Amino acid sequence: MDLQISGKKAIMAGGSAGMGRATAERLAEAGVELYISARRQERLEKAAREIADKYGVRVTPVVADSSTEEGRQALFAACPDPDILAITIKPPSPNGDFLQIPAENWRDSVETALIGPIEIMRHYIPVMKKKGWGRIVNIATFSAKNPMAWRLMSGPARSALVNYTACVSREIAQYGVIINNILPGIFATEGMEESWEIYVEAFGLEKNRDIARKHFIDNNPIPAGFMGDADDMAPMAALLCSPLARFIVGQNIVIDGGQHRSLF
Ligand SMILES: NC(=O)c1ccc[n+]([C@@H]2O[C@H](COP(=O)([O-])OP(=O)(O)OC[C@H]3O[C@@H](n4cnc5c(N)ncnc54)[C@H](OP(=O)(O)O)[C@@H]3O)[C@@H](O)[C@H]2O)c1
Repeated sequence: MDLQISGKKAIMAGGSAGMGRATAERLAEAGVELYISARRQERLEKAAREIADKYGVRVTPVVADSSTEEGRQALFAACPDPDILAITIKPPSPNGDFLQIPAENWRDSVETALIGPIEIMRHYIPVMKKKGWGRIVNIATFSAKNPMAWRLMSGPARSALVNYTACVSREIAQYGVIINNILPGIFATEGMEESWEIYVEAFGLEKNRDIARKHFIDNNPIPAGFMGDADDMAPMAALLCSPLARFIVGQNIVIDGGQHRSLF
């Protein structure tokens, strides 16, 4: 399928690993010029080189923490006029006892998973409106819709993000600028790999990767029978970044192997 986005310019904020990188690759494959950002420079630059070499498109790495004003300004300066904006931000780690979550963790969660994406969208929406075309995709989490007691640092802030985009998307669709969100379930990504020790700690388990994995899978059964691979989500993200998505407005697409049981 031709996504009809060859020659367009995209930002993938959070594009050096996991689902962000997989999305960047699908956009590159479709002929899009990319700006990918992340906090860690070495992995980011390696990803940019690899994607550029593989797909023959220009990929500019931008070291920037999307949860800080300084990081966002670096992104805005590097790419002032994207046609496509995809955002993912890693929220704070899994939590243990909800009674033990201090206020500062909530502030951090809101700053990272809500205010960061909102501020980036707020900056670029007028740019896209002026062009008369734009696509925005947030890669958030299915715990925005399916509350999980150990993901309180991710779900509630993302539920608020979904609320925000539900409103804003309906304000700007008339200008050809469209926002949708993807709500991923459990994916075997670099980020998931990095957080297993925190998971073990949160549940008071023995510090052993296999025990953590078994506990995780036993407590989070996935009807599809496996954890997602980043590229189980990326084609949908790329589709939402294309003209083909012109009638899909303000939606939240759950991609979770059937884990979340709901009709809509
Ligand atoms: N994996 C899962 O099972 C799962 C489940 C539900 C929801 N999600 C959500 O899906 C999204 C992607 O997860 P993932 O597993 O693909 O993560 P990942 O493998 O850790 O990749 C995240 C990417 O974003 C970058 N990033 C993280 N925080 C950033 C920030 N503040 N500013 C700029 N770049 C940032 C990371 O690079 P740096 O670390 O170098 O910045 C990396 O490139 C996250 O929002 C996560 O909450 C994941």
